[in-house]
Amino acid sequence: MIFGIIPAYILGQTGVSLLTERTLAKGGLGKELFRKTRVLRLIVYIALALLPCMGTFLPDSKAKFFCMKTGNLWLGFFLYYTGLLLLFSAVAAIISKVRKDTEKKAFKVVVHGAAVFAAVITVYGMIHAQNTKVVTYDIEARQGGGSQLKVVLLADLHLSVNSLPETTEKMVEKVNACDADVILVAGDIFTSTYGGLEDPDRYSAALSKLEAKYGVYAVAGNHDVEEALFGGFAVAPVSKAFRTKEMDDFFEACDFKMLYDESIELDDTDVIIVGRKDGEKAGDGTKKRLSAKKLLKDCDPDKLKIVLEHEPKDYEKLAKNGADMVLSGHTHNGQLFPGNLVVPFFNENAYGCKTLFGMPTVVTAGTGYYGPPMRVGTDSEITVINITY
Ligand SMILES: [Fe+2]
Repeated sequence: MIFGIIPAYILGQTGVSLLTERTLAKGGLGKELFRKTRVLRLIVYIALALLPCMGTFLPDSKAKFFCMKTGNLWLGFFLYYTGLLLLFSAVAAIISKVRKDTEKKAFKVVVHGAAVFAAVITVYGMIHAQNTKVVTYDIEARQGGGSQLKVVLLADLHLSVNSLPETTEKMVEKVNACDADVILVAGDIFTSTYGGLEDPDRYSAALSKLEAKYGVYAVAGNHDVEEALFGGFAVAPVSKAFRTKEMDDFFEACDFKMLYDESIELDDTDVIIVGRKDGEKAGDGTKKRLSAKKLLKDCDPDKLKIVLEHEPKDYEKLAKNGADMVLSGHTHNGQLFPGNLVVPFFNENAYGCKTLFGMPTVVTAGTGYYGPPMRVGTDSEITVINITY
């Protein structure tokens, strides 16, 4: 996969740089300035394009993490700049044709307009990503009943180079204000690196303050392993993706009870939490995990079985083998528009609450962000689920 992504990235960056040059040549900078700044522009294009590459391929160091951090921001800006450049170029071409303007004056503002709009979207997305919302669902499980359980579902914290500890601290305050019976964390606590996280003790101190009557249970996601990523894709095969001791120690410091293909019954309730390993990266260099049948076979059929699984998949098999509800993350609800319009095509439940195979399923948008530290058209989210069973 990675060998397809790198040429695609180089091609994309080169294509957008060339389109920018072609458009600027139509008068955006004025002839003199355009000529004088040619070398400077070339250096800027190359430097920006190299940032994500250095963030991936440099050995662990301050320089690498700086490139990762700024590279992620650049990718967010680049995404919107590219879209707007194409859109504005098309509009300028139509205007020039309609007005029969041979000088194509409309093109003069295309690059500036795309850059300014993309910068505004980037800044908005960065600010918006830090503002975590609370979303609530009321769900009846197993045809309802007289018992209640309040679950706070968290996922996709994606602690990494672009994380802010203040955001995690505020998130913890908001979760505690929800007064949950149990807090469930559906994976991707990290973004494939522990070393890139500045001051991990501050994050674990904040997360260890999460309060719920029955405690905090968590599963690991496909990014809770140490591995290099390029544009969000793993550079090495699954056989090289391992959860490190630092990650395990971090979970312990957070007081998260990790469930790796395990189930636990909540004291004095008829509720079993079943935590499943991630099907893409189990954390031990494999994709091995229990089948839905083996995972659920020892669970008391009379009790409410809530499956916590990072990726929203395998619903049919889980329902067939006795799961009463499945809670997940992973999709981020697309994170960046138009991603939220795309994810439903790849997931049975891409976001929200949906009954599938006779079983309620909930997918949270997650509290963090992957890659660009931005959210556009989606919210960072704490999900509260009031269950009647
Ligand atoms: Fe994620």
